[in-house]
Order: sequence, then structure tokens, then C-alpha cells
Amino acid sequence: MDIISNSKHPVSVILLSFFLIVCSLAHFGRAVNTITKGQSIKDGESLISNGEIFELGFFSPENSSLRYVGIWYHQIDEKAVVWVANRNRPISDERGTLTIGNDGNLMVLNGNSIAVWSSNASVVSNNTAALLEDDGNLILTNSEDIGNLGKAYWQSFNHPTDTHLPGMRVGVNSALGENRVFTSWKSASDPSPGNFTMGVDPQGSPQIVIWEQLKRRWRSGQWNSVIFTGVPTMATLTSFLFGFKLSPRESDGSMYFTYVPANASYLLRFRIGWDGNEEQLRWDGSAKKWSVIQKQPADDCELYNFCGNFGICNALGSTKCTCMEGFVPKHFEQWRMGNWSAGCIRRTQLQCQRNRSEAGESGGEDGFKVFKNVKLPDFADVVSVGQETCKDKCLQNCSCNAYADINGIGCMLWRGELIDVKSFEKGGNLLHVRLPDSELGGRSKISNAVIAIIVVIGALLLGASVWLLWRFRDMSKGQEISTDFSGPSDMVVGGSQVNGTDLPMFNFNTIAVATNYFSEGNKLGRGGFGPVHKGKLPEGQDIAVKRLSRKSGQGLEEFKNEIILIAKLQHRNLVRLLGCCIQGEEKMLIYEYMPNKSLDLFIFDPAKQALLDWTKRFAIIEGIARGLLYLHRDSRLRIIHRDLKASNILLDEDMNPKISDFGMARIFGFNQNEANTNRVVGTYGYMAPEYAMEGLFSVKSDVYSFGVLLLEIVSGRRNTSFRLEENSSLIEHAWNLWNEGKAMDLVDPNIRDSSSQNQVLRCIHVGMLCVQDSAMYRPTMASVVLMLENETPTLPVPRQPTFTSMRSSVDGDHFMEAHDTVSSNDLTVTMVVGR
Ligand SMILES: *[C@@H]1O[C@H](CO)[C@@H](O)[C@H](O)[C@H]1NC(C)=O
Ligand SMILES: *[C@@H]1O[C@H](CO)[C@@H](O)[C@H](O)[C@H]1NC(C)=O
Ligand SMILES: *[C@@H]1O[C@H](CO)[C@@H](O)[C@H](O)[C@H]1NC(C)=O
Ligand SMILES: *[C@@H]1O[C@H](CO)[C@@H](O)[C@H](O)[C@H]1NC(C)=O
Ligand SMILES: *[C@@H]1O[C@H](CO)[C@@H](O)[C@H](O)[C@H]1NC(C)=O
Ligand SMILES: *[C@@H]1O[C@H](CO)[C@@H](O)[C@H](O)[C@H]1NC(C)=O
Ligand SMILES: *[C@@H]1O[C@H](CO)[C@@H](O)[C@H](O)[C@H]1NC(C)=O
Ligand SMILES: *[C@@H]1O[C@H](CO)[C@@H](O)[C@H](O)[C@H]1NC(C)=O
Repeated sequence: MDIISNSKHPVSVILLSFFLIVCSLAHFGRAVNTITKGQSIKDGESLISNGEIFELGFFSPENSSLRYVGIWYHQIDEKAVVWVANRNRPISDERGTLTIGNDGNLMVLNGNSIAVWSSNASVVSNNTAALLEDDGNLILTNSEDIGNLGKAYWQSFNHPTDTHLPGMRVGVNSALGENRVFTSWKSASDPSPGNFTMGVDPQGSPQIVIWEQLKRRWRSGQWNSVIFTGVPTMATLTSFLFGFKLSPRESDGSMYFTYVPANASYLLRFRIGWDGNEEQLRWDGSAKKWSVIQKQPADDCELYNFCGNFGICNALGSTKCTCMEGFVPKHFEQWRMGNWSAGCIRRTQLQCQRNRSEAGESGGEDGFKVFKNVKLPDFADVVSVGQETCKDKCLQNCSCNAYADINGIGCMLWRGELIDVKSFEKGGNLLHVRLPDSELGGRSKISNAVIAIIVVIGALLLGASVWLLWRFRDMSKGQEISTDFSGPSDMVVGGSQVNGTDLPMFNFNTIAVATNYFSEGNKLGRGGFGPVHKGKLPEGQDIAVKRLSRKSGQGLEEFKNEIILIAKLQHRNLVRLLGCCIQGEEKMLIYEYMPNKSLDLFIFDPAKQALLDWTKRFAIIEGIARGLLYLHRDSRLRIIHRDLKASNILLDEDMNPKISDFGMARIFGFNQNEANTNRVVGTYGYMAPEYAMEGLFSVKSDVYSFGVLLLEIVSGRRNTSFRLEENSSLIEHAWNLWNEGKAMDLVDPNIRDSSSQNQVLRCIHVGMLCVQDSAMYRPTMASVVLMLENETPTLPVPRQPTFTSMRSSVDGDHFMEAHDTVSSNDLTVTMVVGR
């Protein structure tokens, strides 16, 4: 003030001094990091932390004119706001102030001096001050305490908005439950609270969770005292690893998470974005931008319970979601369409869930299947185990579905559904999922059996070689060799036979994945007993899967027995049954896949007819005859096919015919021992008269169908196609030509000239014998085979057939269930003959 007293020009001196004061205030203002009672910060002014890292002041978000008080990084041009005071009540003009109110609290006032925000702490001192620290924390404390860490009445770190900064403590207290600390902005330009929150779920072992309103959106997996188990990359990202710390438990049971950057000079922040994604960002000084170190949820698989309960998500899999082994989709159709939210359910009840009486019968204890590299399910109970193992603990309670014994956590049990499980490429944990014995058995038992056999054989071979060596030594001494050496080879045969009787049961998931969830694209067609899908097993083998329509007249055991019997039928002209798959109502037969599909696609297709010359057609006729003979006579079961037709003859890559759908009548429970049935299964045009009209069937009704098929192969025309064009049938037509001595006219013009006339005429003759009205006069398949092979010099003379099944088979009294077949022209019908 010397200047003023010595001055002769008071006005200029006053102006000058005013200027100096303003200058010093302005300078002071830029460096200042505290406000005390009576001071205030206007819009446009700010507090800056001592190290010039953080700044507190008024700001408007991008594309908004509303004013908020917030904290951001001081020296960084790309403004990153880490905290907002009045996020619910913005100021509409630039007349706002930040000050310390009469009650000692920090306040934001609008232009009319109305408080739009208050720190709202119970302050006992009359002399408070607010201090912005270099870690971004704004502290309200006694003004005398500034600089010596006195009591804070309030601090912004305890009331964060959407950002976690290093040094901030996030409380974990099981007694208080979920602690939703961070709340996202509503949008990029609106800091008011949005739909997403992030915080800690203390249950079991604490984990970080992102919620979308009430629902969980993502979780980090349980803390194992080093990393969060659901984020295995934490162990490889060095900037991430070891940053998190969980404090020791305090006397009131609470703990807190902190995060310390690997290098204290890093500018790091975690933020829950308005789009629901958490990001960890680091300021890259050289690129002058925020780089994202990690982001959660990183992909769909990270979304909470993406595959539903008991599902497993695999981001790299061809289909993201699969059911855990032993589980099947709850809503099959939805699952197939990619709506996985309903999840999976147990295929088979746990042993402990069954009633005692039942339990007695089907034996085995429940066991566990190990899943490797998984994100452990949510809602675990961590229990203490004394002398017992974690496994025992789980087995003690039937509601325990899984356990995991994890370093750093202990024994975890899951007593409800298994929620939010995903599989990692590497890292993750071992999860032991409880399954009934029957679901575990299969593979491991077979492999045990195989191992046992190998061991036995190995021991025998070893014994044999020792014995040989010994004999050899004896022989060299001039003694005789015994020829009795059958032991080991008998054992090998015995072993493989024992294994061979077991029909492979395919896992439902395997089949579902193999056929791309029975997608339309994989559908080969629809046979009489259900749709057929193409599939590829993981080992690369092509298969055809027949899904039997629901109503087979049999119980499960009967069904299995039938399948096992049918699987034993093996002949080069029968399609091979590889196994079956049963899931509740769903029953499937797995066959070898036939690349050339079915015969009807060749012989009735003008474009392909010529591909089958007479030699091939004759080979096909012979093959079918042999296959049928095997079914009728040589197999142990005496199968009557009852639905022999062109679409049921499949062709392998060398055009060898293979009969399919044999044994279906057995599976569907039509009694094979009676010659009369009240359910008729067959196809118009192929049904023998006595069968179509009276339900009488025998091997001879199959012979009739064979005769029709034979005539179709020779002529290249469908029996049924005549009905429309000539109001007759193929059989009638064939008979007329045969009778007039013009049988060669019946032959498909594509092959007529190149065929051996004798052979063709013989074939037609056999065909005419097969389609005679009276079953008695029809030959057996054994004679058919002989006749075709020209072993019988003279053939009987056929009688004129008068019956055509498609005219007379449809009776008002018949109840019919018809299914579309591969080719729209034939219908397989099942009818109940009215009594
Ligand atoms: C301030 O705190 C009291 C109780 O501590 C509460 O009732 C009041 O709603 C709070 N006011 C604001 C603006 O947060
Ligand atoms: C605080 O100051 C106000 C006046 O500014 C006075 O009325 C009040 O009694 C004081 N309270 C305490 C606890 O010092
Ligand atoms: C601001 O508005 C511009 C133009 O409409 C838009 O491109 C930009 O994304 C907006 N920014 C934010 C943060 O919403
Ligand atoms: C928040 O939820 C509401 C209601 O569910 C919705 O309309 C809005 O789009 C959501 N906002 C965001 C950013 O997802
Ligand atoms: C921390 O980072 C600074 C600047 O990036 C670097 O100079 C320093 O060496 C780092 N310190 C450590 C311990 O890595
Ligand atoms: C998915 O399935 C659930 C029930 O399982 C149903 O509520 C939901 O509407 C389905 N979503 C779609 C897109 O079909
Ligand atoms: C077990 O027995 C109880 C009553 O004894 C019965 O209500 C329940 O349905 C039975 N459960 C099964 C799976 O049979
Ligand atoms: C099994 O667990 C359930 C659910 O936690 C519990 O209610 C029940 O008491 C337990 N039973 C036994 C025998 O421990």
C-alpha cells in the first residue's frame, strides 16, 4: 500500500492497484486448490490440484449448453470428466457458483442463489474448506486440517458418479449386500443417471457386477485374492494384474477394493459408459489420446447368462451356446432358432432326486463331470470344509448341483441352477458338475473296458512270448512243439464280440450340433416315420439322422431292445444303423450317410435315368432281392419290411442299393408274430391286395412290393403315375404288353437298346410272378434270387393280376395317418382297419 500513500495521481494509482490486485488474484486463482468459507468459484473459474493434474469447475458436455460442476484432467485437451456434482440438476446459464454454505457444506448455487446441489454432510465445525487433491478427490474438511489429513466430512471419492480412479475405495460388506457404486451417464451429452450401474456383489467371494437397471449384465467372476476368476486375461495384462487389492477385513466385517496403477505416473480410469460397457482407459501422452486397455463385456459370451441356465458359452465355437453334458435345451425349438435364454435342463434325474423304491433298481450313485477352463457360475456359497472334501460336501445335499475347490477362495458350492458359465480358450477354473451315474457311465466305462481288454491281451501276449521263447529253447534242445496255441486269439474274438453287442448311444448335444440343430438346410427329406437330417460327427463322419415321430407304440426299454436287435442286422444291402439317441420324447436313429440319396431320384428323373444303364439296374434289382432275402430268411429276426419302395432304397457312392427303414414296423410296435394286424403301414401302389384290404401280411406282401419296384426300375415309371395318364396301372400295362409278347416295350427307352434282352425279359417275368393277386402263387425271395440269377431253367407262368391297390385301398372305414415322403408322389400310410 506504499504506492497509494506516496502517489500524486490517486485515480491512476487506484486503477493500477486494482489491476495488480486482479492480476494477483487471477494468478492466485489459477494455482488455488482450496476454497474456504466465504469464498466461491464462479462459472469460468476453477480449482486446480497442486500437481496440476485435476481441475474442478463448470463445464458443458458436448452438444449441450447446460452447465455442470465437475472434475476433469487439467492438462489433457480431450476433456475426460471423472466426477459431476449436480448431475440431476444442471444450471441453464453461466451464472452458477460453487461455494461453502452457512452449514459448512459445499454447495452449487444457480444464478438465483438457489442450491442445486449440496454435499449434504453433517458438519460440526463452523470453518470448513474444500480441497482438490492430485488423485482427483475433492475433500471437505476443517480448514485447519488442510495438509495434515484430518477428518474429512465428505469426499467425492465416497460419492463417485461413473468413474473409478486409482486410490478410490470400493466397499465390500456382506451384511450390506450389493454395493452399486457407479452409475452411468444417460447419454454422451447427459450426465444424469442412466440405466447402468457398476459395483460389488459380496456374496460368496466378492465380484464386480454391471447391472442394467435390476438385471445383471456382466460380472467379473469371484475374486480369488489375485484376479477376478471370470477375467483370466487379468493374469496376462500386466497393466491390469496386481492393480486390484482387497483390504483385510475390518472389525465391522467390511473390506474394500482399491486399484493401484503399475506406474504411479500413469493416468488411468475405469468408467461405466452410458452404453453399459465398462472401459479401462489410459492416457497415451505420445498419441495424445485415451487408449482402451480392457473393455467389458468384451463379446456376446460375456453378457450375463447368455446361454441360459446350465448352458456354456464359447465365443470361438461354431455355435456359441451348448448345453452342459447331461443337459438338453429346455425349449428345443427356441434353442435351435438361436434363442438360448431359456437354457437347459437335466436329461436324467439325479439319483438322489428319485424316490427310494426307484432308486433301489437303477443303482449307481451320482458323480461329477469336470468342465475345464470355465468361468465359474454365479451365486456360489463358500463353505468351510473340515475333515471332508468339497466333493463330499456337495454330495451331502441333493440340491447341490456343482462344486469347485479354488485356490484363494476355498470350497464353492452351487445349490441352484448353474448360471452364467462360459468356457475360455485358456485360463479359467475347473467346475465339477453333478450328474447321475447313467450320464457319466458311457464313455469312461467303455474306455475302462477297452483298457481292461488291452491289459489282458497284453499280459497274454507277454505270457505267450515268454512261453514261445521257452519252447524255442526247448526245441533247440531237440524237443517237439505243441500245436495247442489257441488261448490268446480266442480272447481277442471274445472281447470284441462283447463290445460289439452294445449299440452306441449318441449324446443328444453331439447329434444336435452335428445336424446344426436339425436345421432346414440339413434336412434330407421326410420319410414315413419322421424327418431325416444330414449331419457330420466331430470325427468327420457323415451321418443321416432319422427323428422318429413321437408316437411309437413302445416304452423306452422295449424301444432300446428293438434297436439293439435291428442294429445286429448287417448286410451289404441294408443301410447300417450306427446307433441311436434318446432324449425324453425324442428318439433318433443314426445311420451311415448315403451320398447318392435314394433310387427314386434316379429312375423317375428324366435327367438322370440314363445314368443307370441296364447293368447297374440289374445289379440294383439283385441287391434289393438279396437284402430282402436276408431280412426274410437269413436274419434271426425274420423282418417283414412292409414299406418297400423306391424312396426306401438308398444308393452308396458306387450305386450299390441299400434298403432303409427296415424294422420300422417292429419299432412302432406292430405285432410281427401275427399275420393279421389292425394297423397297416405301407405305400399306395406297393401294397399287396390282401394287405391293403384285410391287413393280412406275410413275407409275400413284401414280395409283391418287390415286384412293383422291379417293374418300376425296368420301366423307369412310377406305378402310381399311370393312374392319371392312362387310367390303369403299371402292373396292368406290363401284363398287357407281356401278354401280347411286346414286353420289351415296357423297358425304359433310355436303356432299351443297350440291354441284354434275355435278362430283361427274365426280370419282367419274375416281376409278373411277384405281383400276382394271390400270395400263394407269388415266389419267395429265395426263389426270386435264384430266378434272377438264371439258376432255374423254366419259370412258372404268371396269372393275370387284376388288383390295383390304389383304387381299392382307400375305404371310408379306414382311419389314415399319412406323411409326406421324400418324393411327393408316394404316401406312406398307416391305417387302422375298421372292425
Ligand atoms: C441430505 O441428507 C438428508 C439426511 O441425511 C436427506 O434427508 C436429504 O434428502 C439429503 N438432501 C439431499 C439434497 O441430498
Ligand atoms: C457458526 O457461525 C454462525 C454464524 O456465522 C453462528 O451463528 C454459529 O453459532 C456458529 N456455530 C458454531 C458451532 O460455532
Ligand atoms: C454432437 O453432435 C454431432 C452432430 O450432431 C455428432 O456428430 C456428435 O456425435 C455429437 N456428440 C456427442 C458426444 O453426442
Ligand atoms: C434405458 O432404459 C429405458 C427403458 O428401459 C430405455 O427406453 C432407454 O433406451 C434405455 N437407455 C439406454 C441408453 O439404453
Ligand atoms: C513410469 O512411467 C514414466 C513415464 O512413462 C517412466 O519414465 C518411468 O520410468 C516409469 N516407471 C516405472 C517404474 O516403470
Ligand atoms: C426367447 O425365449 C423366451 C422364453 O424362453 C421368450 O420369453 C422370448 O420372447 C424369446 N425371444 C425371442 C426373440 O423369441
Ligand atoms: C416320489 O414320491 C412322492 C410321494 O411319495 C410323489 O409325490 C412323487 O411324485 C414321486 N416322485 C417321482 C419322481 O416319482
Ligand atoms: C440343502 O441345501 C438347501 C439349500 O441351501 C437347504 O435349504 C437345506 O437345508 C440343505 N439340506 C441339508 C440336509 O443340508
